[in-house]
Amino acid sequence: MFLYILALVAIWFIYRWLRETKRVPNKGDKYVYITGCDSGFGNRLAWHLDELGFRVIAGCYTKEGESALRKLSSERLSTVSLDVTKSESVSKAAASIKTLVGEKGLWAVVNNAGVSVPSGPNDWLTIEDFKSMLAVNLNGVIDVTLSVLPLIKKARGRVVNVASVFGRISPFGGPYCVSKYGVEAFNDCLRLNMAPFGVKVLCIEPGFFKTSVTDTALVQNNLKKLWDRLPQDVRDDYGRVYLEKTLEGVDQRFNQLTDSDLMKVVGCMEHAITAVHPRYRYSPGWDAKFFWLPMSYLPTFITDAFFLSNTPKPIKSVL
Ligand SMILES: NC(=O)c1ccc[n+]([C@@H]2O[C@H](COP(=O)([O-])OP(=O)(O)OC[C@H]3O[C@@H](n4cnc5c(N)ncnc54)[C@H](OP(=O)(O)O)[C@@H]3O)[C@@H](O)[C@H]2O)c1
Repeated sequence: MFLYILALVAIWFIYRWLRETKRVPNKGDKYVYITGCDSGFGNRLAWHLDELGFRVIAGCYTKEGESALRKLSSERLSTVSLDVTKSESVSKAAASIKTLVGEKGLWAVVNNAGVSVPSGPNDWLTIEDFKSMLAVNLNGVIDVTLSVLPLIKKARGRVVNVASVFGRISPFGGPYCVSKYGVEAFNDCLRLNMAPFGVKVLCIEPGFFKTSVTDTALVQNNLKKLWDRLPQDVRDDYGRVYLEKTLEGVDQRFNQLTDSDLMKVVGCMEHAITAVHPRYRYSPGWDAKFFWLPMSYLPTFITDAFFLSNTPKPIKSVL
């Protein structure tokens, strides 16, 4: 009986592997629009797809990002200046993409641009802190998608959304998890809405990787800035030791957890764009597969107990 089950599982994995190896034809005719190509995953993906022969349209936040990318890529790669928080910038980019792709339509958009600060306990933050990150990580994703959706429907193409494991579990305060839960929700309803039109909507949920969003100095400086502007009563609730332990924790955890092999994420993005049968969800990173996702299925009393016992306690904690 055990061997019978083992054989069935093996057959299922072989069938899935064979199905997933099939790739779409005519890469040279397919346009892929990626946001946030100045650095990190977006930058690597732009190079990688260019090397594979796709027609890449790289959305860059800075002029330096645009020229650096253009210098070393083929003539197939073009860049557009893009600030996903500004609707004029998003529509201007969409208009130039419409002209570029013509009747072929757009094969894929990859909503990759994102930021990770300000992040901290919720009572250290203001509504403006939330709005500034949601503008990039959530509203930016929605705006960019809607701006090119008619072109994607024309090509029966794909929308690839970069969420995070923190779109599945929320172990720290601030707008990051809120924004990524929002991306997951947008991804899931768009997938249902677009299925009748032959458009696939895929989600990437990476664990911790070494890029600018997980830069220890950036996250620590952000926490210090938030602390410096706190009213005295909130500082008294937490105590300076809390800040110091949190800063140490960022240093330790980021060093332990961040994976420097960005190709694990880029490989998943590539599969979502190029496979005939892509997966609905990708979870690149060992921490995503074996820690964060299993944790997200556990009962709340277990995850709360785990996170509370592994984070510093405010000086006035009653726990
Ligand atoms: N690294 C991880 O561990 C991790 C894990 C899960 C999910 N993610 C997600 O992966 C995505 C890519 O991040 P990354 O890790 O590759 O970090 P990254 O190197 O900082 O990439 C983010 C990119 O977005 C750009 N950007 C920032 N604000 C923008 C705006 N308003 N308009 C357009 N572009 C903007 C940044 O430009 P500048 O460089 O010029 O600021 C940067 O090129 C993000 O959505 C992030 O949340 C990352």
